[in-house]
Amino acid sequence: MATIIDGKQIAQQIRDGLKTEVARLQKERKITPGLAAVLVGENPASKVYVNMKAKACDETGIYSQKIPLPADTPQKKLIELVHGLNQDQKIHGILIQLPLPDHLDQHAVLQEVSPHKDVDGFHPMNLGKLLSAKFWDELPAFVPCTPAGCIQLIESTGIEIEGKNAVVVGRSVIVGKPVAMLLLAKQATVTIAHSRTKNLKEICRQADILVVAAGRPKLVTADMIKPGAVVIDVGVNRVGEKQLVGDVDFEAAKEVAGFITPVPGGVGPMTIAMLLRNTVESAQCSVS
Ligand code: GUN
Repeated sequence: MATIIDGKQIAQQIRDGLKTEVARLQKERKITPGLAAVLVGENPASKVYVNMKAKACDETGIYSQKIPLPADTPQKKLIELVHGLNQDQKIHGILIQLPLPDHLDQHAVLQEVSPHKDVDGFHPMNLGKLLSAKFWDELPAFVPCTPAGCIQLIESTGIEIEGKNAVVVGRSVIVGKPVAMLLLAKQATVTIAHSRTKNLKEICRQADILVVAAGRPKLVTADMIKPGAVVIDVGVNRVGEKQLVGDVDFEAAKEVAGFITPVPGGVGPMTIAMLLRNTVESAQCSVS
């Protein structure tokens, strides 16, 4: 029976530490870290995430500005807004909640965010640095939040990443690719599997560390898990009215894995904690 990794508790510890740091920044340097969260359109899940992020800022002493925009906002207008936030002294972190409505070019918009305020780590400069880093200490200042949270959860088990077989299921720019790069920087042997992968079961069974970010409920079943493995479930799938499930068949998988994250209460809270951390670090580096 696996040890359940309590992401909620680990995230809370990080948030408590950040709260202390924010108070110190205010007292000693008169700086209040500030985050702007831009939400275009009415995606219900995105609304929930942005509200959670703003609430977490409030609880940590970080100034937050929610910027809701209509679904039909022209790209030019969105980019002008981003340019304004790049210049705004109160704002140390800018996040554009994804996905954007179809008429907007996500890549074009994200590259207008100042790389020095890119607390999501999605700017091509920060993604490029992530790709260039051979070792952990060469990583960019801003690493994408969900992947950074996954690494913290793996490390919370006390299991050494170096030299382990790590399998990442999913190849998104938000999770799959960056988490693979982070595992590589920690010197794991990394395999990226995805929807076209053949023999997914055999590949997953090789994993000492299995990170699943495919967006398919119960994609990973107990027979795909190596006994004793660390299983990190990034999936957030809504089934029925209220229930949230991950990409891993949790009830069966916990009988085989050594450590496993639940959904909810695993990776989700860590994403927010890492966003707060990136925002505080950005404020620490600010000159004003
Ligand atoms: N959509 C899904 N995950 C994320 C995230 O980490 N940041 C942003 N901005 N949008 C997302």
